[in-house]
Amino acid sequence: MTPALAEPPYLSPDIAAALVAIAVEIGGIAVAPTKRDFIQMRVSRRLREIGCDDFESYLASLKGPGGDEEARRLVEALTTHTTSFFREQLHYDWLAAEGLPALVAQGAGRERPLTVWSAACSLGSELWSAGMTLDAFAATQPGGLRWALVGTDISRKILRRAANAVFTEDEISGLDEPMRRAWLLRSSAPQRGRILYRIAPELRSRARLAWANLVDLDPRLSLTADVAFLRNVLIYFRPEDQRRAVANVMGRLRPGGYLLTGHSESLAEPPAGLRQVRTSVYQKV
Ligand SMILES: C[S@@+](CC[C@H](N)C(=O)[O-])C[C@H]1O[C@@H](n2cnc3c(N)ncnc32)[C@H](O)[C@@H]1O
Repeated sequence: MTPALAEPPYLSPDIAAALVAIAVEIGGIAVAPTKRDFIQMRVSRRLREIGCDDFESYLASLKGPGGDEEARRLVEALTTHTTSFFREQLHYDWLAAEGLPALVAQGAGRERPLTVWSAACSLGSELWSAGMTLDAFAATQPGGLRWALVGTDISRKILRRAANAVFTEDEISGLDEPMRRAWLLRSSAPQRGRILYRIAPELRSRARLAWANLVDLDPRLSLTADVAFLRNVLIYFRPEDQRRAVANVMGRLRPGGYLLTGHSESLAEPPAGLRQVRTSVYQKV
């Protein structure tokens, strides 16, 4: 018999608001406090993991010793990691046809590696899709191309998965057979009943994964990118944190480099120094 699932502890509106305020403060994650069911479901998992019985004690622990580390866990609990290979395919088509040739014409990939940054990389599907696009493009360039990938995210848990670069059949559904043959290794036997796929070493060896908070970017993060993917993350931020994240990412772009936002996240008013090239594609001038 399946055991009955225990009810999650009660989450009062005041405590929901206090938890959201901490998540906004630490990671810019602006979940509407009215989405109490969502907050209750996500954070009660964390309560179970640490053996905490109620939200009142959990809030107290966030304010006590070790609270900063737990606040980061709270942000992780409230973030959404939905992603897929070649999501918003138009960006990759544009990169291959226009963006990458323009960057090469500026000297990227010759004097210095052409660097693509997936700024909120989640599981890495966006990072590796960019890698596949670059690898295919490099093969068309006389003398090849020097290139590198950087993936960052605020969730340490998700970054470990991104670095491991292992995906299930469902997660690679966006990749056709030739792509799978070119850039994936397939497990020879099912693992826990599932065939798994790992990104090929040729791509993995070009990638660096690092923790970063886009609304409070550590100046010590050493990174200058030619292309920055900043997609499907701005929607979770308050307007002021969106502006801060865009400015932070822009600060790490080379002049002439491109910033890509999610198609539903076009910047209403691109900041000075950023010109719109097409929908959700901006160039640093
Ligand atoms: C919905 S996923 C988007 C993944 C990918 N960019 C895409 O478009 O498929 C959002 C990611 O943003 C990350 N994130 C949320 N807030 C962040 C912050 N302040 N700094 C860096 N990453 C953040 C989350 O951990 C999550 O992995």
